[in-house]
Amino acid sequence: MSFRGGPVLGIESSCDETSAAVVADNRVLGHVILSQDAHAVFGGVVPEIAARQHLVHIDGVVERALDEASIGPADLAGVGVTAGPGLIGALLVGLNWAKGFAYALGLPVVGVHHMEAHLYANSLESPDATPPFVALLISGGHTLLLYTPAWGRYELLGATRDDAAGEAFDKVARRLGLGFPGGPEIEKFAQQGNAGTCRLPRPMLSARDDPGDASYFDFSFSGLKTAASLMIGEIEAAVDGDVDAARAHVAAEFQEAVVDVLVAKTMRAVEHTRCRRVLLGGGVARNALLRETLASALEPAGRMFAPSPRLSTDNAAMVARLAEHRLWAGQTDGLDLNADPALPFPGLS
Ligand code: KG4
Ligand code: ZN
Repeated sequence: MSFRGGPVLGIESSCDETSAAVVADNRVLGHVILSQDAHAVFGGVVPEIAARQHLVHIDGVVERALDEASIGPADLAGVGVTAGPGLIGALLVGLNWAKGFAYALGLPVVGVHHMEAHLYANSLESPDATPPFVALLISGGHTLLLYTPAWGRYELLGATRDDAAGEAFDKVARRLGLGFPGGPEIEKFAQQGNAGTCRLPRPMLSARDDPGDASYFDFSFSGLKTAASLMIGEIEAAVDGDVDAARAHVAAEFQEAVVDVLVAKTMRAVEHTRCRRVLLGGGVARNALLRETLASALEPAGRMFAPSPRLSTDNAAMVARLAEHRLWAGQTDGLDLNADPALPFPGLS
């Protein structure tokens, strides 16, 4: 089945957002994101609940996205769907729904990589967010620093060795008794405190680091998370002092520590590649301190691209956008397309 242009339906179900979007010629015609609130009481995503919730909501979410685009299924020209990485049960719902829908309508279907889709979110809002660029992809499950000389070609510079940046935000938020997802909660709580009042480490950053070292571009957030957790424990055990204020200082210091590391490693990539264009993607890209710090580190000659908050966290518009790109390139998948919870990043060297 070949693609001759026209609206592309995107489906995203890799974690706890059930989302559908219609994109045509790089424009979003309809977009619905349903964030499942059934996980909040558990303080994290429960995979089985996520899968069941996708099943309950996917029909309605797609219907609303098509309504918003003022089109019907017969007007579609292709279907794109997240094939991985993600939670297997959650992925399977979206993928099988998309395959069944495409088969019934005789449409080409293309499976996309969730993190590559986060990268493409930028081009929906900034047409000039094109390669070459350095990309920092930061979500709840991944932390990737890439150099992209051309679309579809990615040089891996660094990745996390343990927790992802978003995961560290979520876990420290949980330790502070804040809500889920933790990133926005920490960001809000940090406004009541001052970074620097207490001191947390900046992991994998040393002035003596050498570009030849394996750790030069890599990240590690697990030790920082533990250090923050120990500090919170000490504050709570102390008999005197303003516990709430001290906890807010830890939140502010933790946020600043993560941002310092992310920005320093990204600037190392900028120097190494001599490419001063940087793209952000993934939920942590919503963080205002990160955006401000990176944007000013890139001044005066550099440029930072970051999606709007709605397109930074999980959404189907980015999936439809990448699918449209792939379909124009003549790349489609067969109905044997399968979900892969550990799908490797495509085109990586
Ligand atoms: O990309 P995303 O929506 O889902 C995954 O692919 O994982 O990213 C979710 C992650 C969560 O860990 C969440 O805490 C984090 O993004 N996040 C933030 C902010 N908003 C969301 N982290 C820091 N600051 C924020 N404002
Ligand atoms: Zn994501």
